[in-house]
Amino acid sequence: APPTIINPSVLSADFAELGKACRDAMDWGSNWLHLDVMDGFFVPNMTFGASVVGKLRPHVERPKEKGGNGTFDCHMMIMEPMRWASSFRDAGADMYCFHYEAAISSVAAKQPTDKDTTEKCTPKSLIRYIHELGMQAGIAIKPETSVDVLWGILDNGNDIERPDMVLVMTVHPGFGGQKFMASELPKVTALRQKYPNLNIEVDGGLAEGTIDQAAEAGANVIVAGSAVFGAKDPAQVISVLREAVEK
Ligand code: DX5
Ligand code: ZN
Repeated sequence: APPTIINPSVLSADFAELGKACRDAMDWGSNWLHLDVMDGFFVPNMTFGASVVGKLRPHVERPKEKGGNGTFDCHMMIMEPMRWASSFRDAGADMYCFHYEAAISSVAAKQPTDKDTTEKCTPKSLIRYIHELGMQAGIAIKPETSVDVLWGILDNGNDIERPDMVLVMTVHPGFGGQKFMASELPKVTALRQKYPNLNIEVDGGLAEGTIDQAAEAGANVIVAGSAVFGAKDPAQVISVLREAVEK
């Protein structure tokens, strides 16, 4: 199985002290940092964009290899994900994880300043573009989306159009601190059965009480927001999460 990656979401940190939150999370033993980008359209909430990610970059050393410690995992809960990929690359994003649901209803403009084109963005063309920009590509699905939409994307014979990670949402995206949806875990099981080496990320409601089920299903990239930033001893929570996945 691929390495265990503990990936705290700074959504639950103090936004007035985000640089410190990133440094702290790395000191507590995290592997990656999960940066939740929300546009107020794809989800009913707003957070931050590429300029904030760029300001955070100097606080965390760039990963030495793809997927290494210090990876900035940008979870793009936005419409028109193709439009913003180059800005996030320039800001220092390592993983650009877009939502399947946004990619299939989107135009293929490649810059914030581009006029909309009539060309359609597809998951595969977006993955190719993210790779051409030099980032890793992730594809996320909401709870209401079937895992079956992913097979044609994962099975395709073209390396450059294959995602490096799949994110299975275990809450409805938009807010931290929601209840874990165990109903989503069969998606993880099905993915792990077919793809022993794929990075499979779970996001939403992960904590000491839910990690065992997620690990059992086969998730290896573990996002945790409130469980880490709300803890008295965040380093302890991170090590409990890690041990649960590794046991
Ligand atoms: C929710 C975000 C999550 C969120 C998770 O839309 O995608 O990353 O921060 O928060 P917790 O771990 O508190 O459920
Ligand atoms: Zn997230």
